[in-house]
Amino acid sequence: MKEKNKYLQLEYKPNYQEEIIATFYGESNGSLEELSEQVAGESSIGTWTKLTTLSDEVFQRLGARIFSLDKKNNIFKIAYPLSLFEKGSIPQLLSSVGGNIFSMKAVKNLRLENIEFPEKYIKSYPGPYWGIEGIRKMLNVYDRPIIGCIMKPKIGLTSKQNAQMASQIFANGVDLIKDDENLTSLSFNKFEDRVKKVLELKKKVEKKTNQKKIYVFNVTAPVSLMLERARLVKKLGGRCVMVDVISVGWGAVQELRRQNLKLIIHGHRAGHSAFTRNKKHGISMLVLANLARLAGIDQFHTGTVVGKMEGGEEEVCSINDLLREDWREFDQLRENWASLKPILPIASGGLHPGLVPQLVEILGQNLVINFGGGLHGHPQGSEAGARAAIQSIEAVQKGIKIKEYAKTHPELKVALNYWKF
Ligand code: 6PG
Ligand code: MG
Repeated sequence: MKEKNKYLQLEYKPNYQEEIIATFYGESNGSLEELSEQVAGESSIGTWTKLTTLSDEVFQRLGARIFSLDKKNNIFKIAYPLSLFEKGSIPQLLSSVGGNIFSMKAVKNLRLENIEFPEKYIKSYPGPYWGIEGIRKMLNVYDRPIIGCIMKPKIGLTSKQNAQMASQIFANGVDLIKDDENLTSLSFNKFEDRVKKVLELKKKVEKKTNQKKIYVFNVTAPVSLMLERARLVKKLGGRCVMVDVISVGWGAVQELRRQNLKLIIHGHRAGHSAFTRNKKHGISMLVLANLARLAGIDQFHTGTVVGKMEGGEEEVCSINDLLREDWREFDQLRENWASLKPILPIASGGLHPGLVPQLVEILGQNLVINFGGGLHGHPQGSEAGARAAIQSIEAVQKGIKIKEYAKTHPELKVALNYWKF
């Protein structure tokens, strides 16, 4: 007799309007069928043993269903009824399909590759307030990458030095400057002090250059302090705050967005590789990028392919496309993200002017290009580094080979020689 209440139902056809679909890679000492059964149970309504308290009715109504099993590639797909989820809550979503299952002894490796959402679930989130269009409109920069800079050393400048250096870099054409991911409020560079000094000098540069500039203040902190700092940035006339999404947690990111401060929210993903990097175990960067858009991040670090951080071309390009698009084709599902504004990808980490042509070739121009060491490491200093970065983007815009352009742009020439390009 067919055992009843099995999660494995390969004849099941998911209802893409009423179910969340999770795709897993899995390895165990047993069969993929057994593993998927244990994952489906633990991530929905079950546990390690049969329950006298779990009625057939509840099982039918709320039990997850494994509807696809690819033994060759160790991939299985699970459909979860929407009633299992609290709408608008990333913490609860992750505690369900991204929680206990990774700890089960039955698992040798398990990776949450993707989560696909019905439109009614996506609509339960606010998404980005500004999105790509809003950011570009704020800067009045449309037909080229937004040129960003990270303050370096990542920690060490006083708030006064920080503000002075930022104003010099802004004056040399950079659109956006950010705190580094671990610069928050330190004895020699207190948050409030930095905000006041940076905004004061930025205002002068904007007046002088007649250009809008964005400074990205890192508000990463325990949540009430984070919100206090974000409100301070708003009060003092700032336009943008950064949050290290992994360090603060998705609930805190959602709370920052829920404050509706109308600030650009810049998402840094420091720490993500602890669980996104291993292609056999953890949670994929694609899932994180989806969560960032639900949570209301406006611009999000997604990788450079050519810089210092891991993240291959196929992964970074596909994620960047998904963040910028409204519709997605996944199997039969056409995920409709149109209710949420698109996110501006950020390429950052180990970039210097010599890498710009290759970067733009691979990632296109609808993104932020961040220079950290690749600007402040310029032998003639940060201002020359800023000019070299601008010149490298100009060369690409004009369709001129960068070495050719360097013949008439000295700071670029120095940068190409220094970083052996
Ligand atoms: C820099 C930045 C850089 C940043 C990384 C994070 O020096 O360019 O400070 O190190 O922290 O870009 O990596 P991802 O951008 O890949 O998340
Ligand atoms: Mg950094």
